[in-house]
Amino acid sequence: MFVKNVSFVTSPSLGGSLVVGIYEDGTVGAGADVLGGKIVDEIAQYVRKTSFYGKLFESFSFVSSFGEHNHVLVIGLGKFNAQFSDLDLEKIGAAIYTGVKKLDKKASVAIGDSDIKSNAKMPQLLLAFGSLLKSWDFDKYKPTKNEKVKLSTLEFCTGNVADAEFEFKKYKNIADAVFLARSVVSEPANVINPLSLAAIAEQELAPLGINIKVLDPKVMQDLGMNALLGVAQGSANEPRMAVLSWNGGDASDKPVAFVGKGVTFDSGGISLKPEENMHEMTYDMAGSGVVLGLLKAVALNKLPINVVGIMAMVENMPSGTAQRPGDIVKTMSGKTVEIRSTDAEGRLVLADAIWYVEEKFSPKIIIDIATLTGAIVVALGHEFAGLFTNSDELAKQLIESGDATGEKIWRMPLTEHFDKSINSEVADMLNTSKPSTRGGSITAAQFIKRFIRDVSWAHLDIAGVECTSDEIFVCTNGATGFGVHLLYDFLERMLPIDCVLSSPLLRRSEA
Ligand code: BES
Ligand code: ZN
Ligand code: ZN
Repeated sequence: MFVKNVSFVTSPSLGGSLVVGIYEDGTVGAGADVLGGKIVDEIAQYVRKTSFYGKLFESFSFVSSFGEHNHVLVIGLGKFNAQFSDLDLEKIGAAIYTGVKKLDKKASVAIGDSDIKSNAKMPQLLLAFGSLLKSWDFDKYKPTKNEKVKLSTLEFCTGNVADAEFEFKKYKNIADAVFLARSVVSEPANVINPLSLAAIAEQELAPLGINIKVLDPKVMQDLGMNALLGVAQGSANEPRMAVLSWNGGDASDKPVAFVGKGVTFDSGGISLKPEENMHEMTYDMAGSGVVLGLLKAVALNKLPINVVGIMAMVENMPSGTAQRPGDIVKTMSGKTVEIRSTDAEGRLVLADAIWYVEEKFSPKIIIDIATLTGAIVVALGHEFAGLFTNSDELAKQLIESGDATGEKIWRMPLTEHFDKSINSEVADMLNTSKPSTRGGSITAAQFIKRFIRDVSWAHLDIAGVECTSDEIFVCTNGATGFGVHLLYDFLERMLPIDCVLSSPLLRRSEA
């Protein structure tokens, strides 16, 4: 579920809740002027009598005796006239949604045009985007739990309704793409398996002009993808690899490729995981979910760029046909791997998927995204995804997008010491290093690096950020869709500036 009607209006309609901003010095944001000076003064006086001080992102609601509304929500805007980033505005939007969702069916937000200092072309767009992202909830199997949420219409006041409605489409498209990622990641593994996820990709993306090819096990066998197939061999669910291509750029332009780990359930295989948190391994296809969402955003907003997405989908199960520790597999690259833990399966799947995409598409950049290691959660918690890359420039660009979108990433090292630790006596490499090496996220990244040839490459380990049990800024519980907005922003920033200016569907406020 998410708030279905987000619209823009010149002045707040009657009834429902009214939202106004208030600074720490007690000034009501000038966006509320549309209500008339008398009401603004009354609200300011009322708030002054309470213990609410307008702290940024905090809010306070009361039953209204002013004007024609049932409730008023005042949202803290912090220091008077402070400059807001796009992300601050999204966070304010999210806080507005949280503040009003249980009050009334409708809320009108009188914040914007003149009282927000920012580089955004229209701050209301970011407020609306933040509210929309925050409102998504996975309630498919328990719709009653949201009975308390009353809000279904959220309107934002602006002096320029037509422009706002037009410009908001691109934000709405990104939100829809994030919601697609969140929803496939949230679905349990008895619903999402390689076959059903490939079908969703086809349904969602083919109508948008994305080419989809789905490789079945026979094709993968012919290609020599034995590392990926080895992970899948214990499961009754066959593996699939979905190859998605969006040709928005010149035919001669090399594409940017994204490769997502799509382990639809990771039991650990024969190296079975302990019971405690095994149920969370339905999220182990989050990398593929992000690739799916990202391609949807790219196609909906028609980015003038060539993009390839790979969803490498398997289920990792123990059985009589499952792969064993000690097995040796030959990857598509020809390099051999000695399996030490069948639970270090993500890197095996990625090894073949990455080799395939470099061979078939000669991309200028490969970015893989994967819930790869528990060790990254130890290192970076739930605050940052781990970034590993062979390119300082790529690191800079991705970190910039992370900071801008709030999907933050932290660069981790790649070194020869960790690379050596995966050498095997009997094959080219091991799929895990000795436990004494520690740094498990780094050895995993070193493993993947061995399958990168001559291309700028980044690996995002999203094991700690793909789901949340806390209320984080634009998310409630569950799947975050982390990576869709980040990588979309990264692609948008890659576009030449003349292209940004001439395309009505791009968002860059500083352009
Ligand atoms: N899917 C897991 C990683 C994971 C852990 C994701 C926690 C999300 C939350 C991955 O396949 C895995 O099991 N990795 C092992 C590697 C080890 C056996 C070398 C791990 O991190 O323990
Ligand atoms: Zn595993
Ligand atoms: Zn896994």
